[in-house]
Amino acid sequence: MGPGGEETAAKRANPSPAGEDRLSALPDDVLVLILLRLRTPEAVWTSVLSRRWRSVWGLLPELRFSYPEPHGLRDALAASAVPLRCLLVGGLRGAPAESIATWLPAAARRLSGDLILLDKGPERYASGGGGGGESEERGALELPCFEKATSISLDLGCLGLSAPPAGVFARLTELSLSGVRFHGPYELGGAVSSPRCPCLQKLTLQDVQGLDNLAISSDSLKLVALKHLRGLRKLAVVAPVVKELSVVRCFFCDRTRQPVANISVPQLELLTWVDAYDPSSMHLGKMENLKWLSTIFLVYGREGLAQNRACLMFVSRVKVIKHLTLILAYLQKINSYQYLMEDMTILPDTMSLHLILYAGRHSFGACSFHILRMCPGIKRLIMEFCDYFIGKTQAECPQGCICGQPSNWKTEELKLNCLREVEIRQFRGSDHELVFLKRLFTWATGLKRIAVAFNDSVAESTTKELCKMLRTFSRPEICMDFYVYQNKVKVLYASED
Ligand SMILES: *[C@@H]1O[C@H](CO)[C@@H](O)[C@H](O)[C@H]1NC(C)=O
Ligand SMILES: *[C@@H]1O[C@H](CO)[C@@H](O)[C@H](O)[C@H]1NC(C)=O
Repeated sequence: MGPGGEETAAKRANPSPAGEDRLSALPDDVLVLILLRLRTPEAVWTSVLSRRWRSVWGLLPELRFSYPEPHGLRDALAASAVPLRCLLVGGLRGAPAESIATWLPAAARRLSGDLILLDKGPERYASGGGGGGESEERGALELPCFEKATSISLDLGCLGLSAPPAGVFARLTELSLSGVRFHGPYELGGAVSSPRCPCLQKLTLQDVQGLDNLAISSDSLKLVALKHLRGLRKLAVVAPVVKELSVVRCFFCDRTRQPVANISVPQLELLTWVDAYDPSSMHLGKMENLKWLSTIFLVYGREGLAQNRACLMFVSRVKVIKHLTLILAYLQKINSYQYLMEDMTILPDTMSLHLILYAGRHSFGACSFHILRMCPGIKRLIMEFCDYFIGKTQAECPQGCICGQPSNWKTEELKLNCLREVEIRQFRGSDHELVFLKRLFTWATGLKRIAVAFNDSVAESTTKELCKMLRTFSRPEICMDFYVYQNKVKVLYASED
């Protein structure tokens, strides 16, 4: 809290220094509207202006704090006289559990809207390995039961957390937990299931440790997103109205224990499964409404990879799908591994294919060709070129790499007669990209439109050259658009010619 803010607040609240304070004569609800235009700490400082102002800020329905002093925050929450529709506390900077526990119960009593806690302390990234030292010292926070809150979003920089042993989150519709380590005897699954979260519609868990067993049974959930639940071994989801489920790298990390799952989501429309799947211990019920499927396949690796088995299981089990997203991933060093694409012999009948290539600087022509050959009926194709490998930033293709060996795609014919629209994302203009696109134009004889979006690392002069070159691959009947990023916003690129 800087002294400057106090001055500003005082000036704004007391605009006529001549003495006549017309502002203070206004009714409470008007003063609250004025305070809502200030930042919360400034609004709180208005309480020093005069008696009239002392309690006005306590009528604020929204409070936002950064780097709060825990006792001050507790007193502020206790003094707040109206139901809060939003409480945001940011900049916790690795605060110990004890300090958050000072004020969190007061927040639970007040809040009837959204709770957002943000702690993006530096150690969150440093302790990536396995819940290391510093975060242990912060202790574990027991989440109070927020009986009236409608949404809770906690991003706690790897803080220990335990679910409340009892109580009903009667109005909660959205829960998002990120950067937490579960502790204690109470199961998160029980706390988020119907009896205790009867209105919960969206559940997002990301970068969570210590959840060995997660069992959710909910009649209200529509979306369940589980990402990086390190150490998850057993997952059960019984959710009759869930439409969207994603399971991303939850079971991968521990290959010594067999993952167990029982998932019953009969109304599912959108499934993202980027994880292991073992049919002998994991059970997925019927999903007859599935419209979107996303999954991952490792192009080179050892025979029998768990995530590849999962991918093959999904793509062979689903006969027809509207949108199929396939992530084709490479490791950086592949020379001692096998080319695994031949294992993929069948794909669902699909209209719209999205290929995401985590190929680094490897050649990706062969694996893309392999997939396209199995999808002769696609109308729409999106190709996204990621210039790195899964989990790595190093993009180089080592010397003498075998990635270019299967070269049938350079000569063999392919007819993609139904293909009308192509979208290229993250285009950088590498030789691999150019050679592949040139081939794609010859395969897609009925192509009507192509949109190419450049990655923002491509220089303006290079962009111009590349646009020119791509136009030489095209045909007059094809409408070709280019996009570039300006301040992270995608805009149409107007090349002069
Ligand atoms: C999976 O869950 C369903 C629904 O709760 C249950 O009926 C079934 O027995 C379970 N299957 C396994 C293999 O645990
Ligand atoms: C461009 O590529 C880099 C590195 O692969 C990536 O981090 C970045 O998000 C990309 N830019 C856009 C606009 O997608």
